[in-house]
Amino acid sequence: MTAVPPPPTVGLSRAAILAWLRERDETQLAALWQAADETRRRYVGDEVHLRGLIEISNHCARQCAYCGLRAGNRSLERYRMTSAEVLECARRAQQLGYGTVVLQAGDDPGLARDWLADLVRSIKRETGLAVTLSLGERSVADMRAWRTAGADRYLLRFETSDRQLYQLIHPPLPGQSSDRLALLSALHELGYEIGSGIMVGLPGQTYASVATDIELFRRLDLDMIGIGPFIAHPATPLGDGTLPIEVPADQIPHDELTALKVVALARLACPEANIPATTALATIDNESGYELALQRGANVIMPDLTPLPYRLCYEIYPGKTALREAGADNGASLAQRLQRLGRRVGTGPGNRQRHTPSAGDA
Ligand code: 5AD
Repeated sequence: MTAVPPPPTVGLSRAAILAWLRERDETQLAALWQAADETRRRYVGDEVHLRGLIEISNHCARQCAYCGLRAGNRSLERYRMTSAEVLECARRAQQLGYGTVVLQAGDDPGLARDWLADLVRSIKRETGLAVTLSLGERSVADMRAWRTAGADRYLLRFETSDRQLYQLIHPPLPGQSSDRLALLSALHELGYEIGSGIMVGLPGQTYASVATDIELFRRLDLDMIGIGPFIAHPATPLGDGTLPIEVPADQIPHDELTALKVVALARLACPEANIPATTALATIDNESGYELALQRGANVIMPDLTPLPYRLCYEIYPGKTALREAGADNGASLAQRLQRLGRRVGTGPGNRQRHTPSAGDA
């Protein structure tokens, strides 16, 4: 535990959050960017942690209206990696000096509890890396078994705090309800570091509901927060017009600037959190998406280590694979890009660091 001085005073009342989300004047926004960057520097420092992303399966039982992996997308070739393939990627992460691997998949019941537990144990035994899971909505029994096997963290975005919109775009499986907040609390109880987050600019999502999302980040005391712009996928109901959602007067845009504002506000709301510069941001701004996010609150990048043939099939939204093919996030160029920002590659697992408030803190 270390003591840090209080962050710069950018108020985070609901009214202030809303005003920042609506602000378009760059001279005004400079104060938000500066406060977020300064808070990031004081609380999580200049290290940028690299988490090696391994997309272990693109099977999905769900019918989410936004996601290209949805079961209804018949044009997608499906794959599930073998344990040996995943382990090989984990070794590669270790060789590259990363502290964490992230195992991600759709909601895939084909990933059996014991198989995954064995895999987590093997990765821990062979590499000692921190293991983050991002496998959708699983039973608490599954999550417990994987925690016992050594998994350290779990990512599960709540996507939007607007209940009605969530139900519409994320239909529950037959006979089940989808309560991601309850799962996050169960994960926390099991001793995982918990990550969540949202898409920004979903059709029907308002400024007011994103302000509520940011308040929720704080209330959940998240260890990790992932924020990306919504990107329409043509093979989904939100991309092909089959789920028409009336645009409300208060619709929040799905552009880069708005997503960056949410990143900055998330940093101010949760100063200790690990916040990635997400692939979705880099996808809509290939040139400087990572850089801008890193300068406005983010401190993590998740380079994709999935073998290429599989990676091409992990098309959550369009453009994602093209970016990866261009090598935009290969290790060498990343280190150089970080150096240009006055930042450096993080060492160690990059866990959330808890700070005690300094004497001057109220
Ligand atoms: N645009 C942007 N992000 C998306 N995700 C899923 N579909 C899309 C999309 N069309 C995000 C969700 C999910 C994460 C893995 O990817 O927030 O939790």
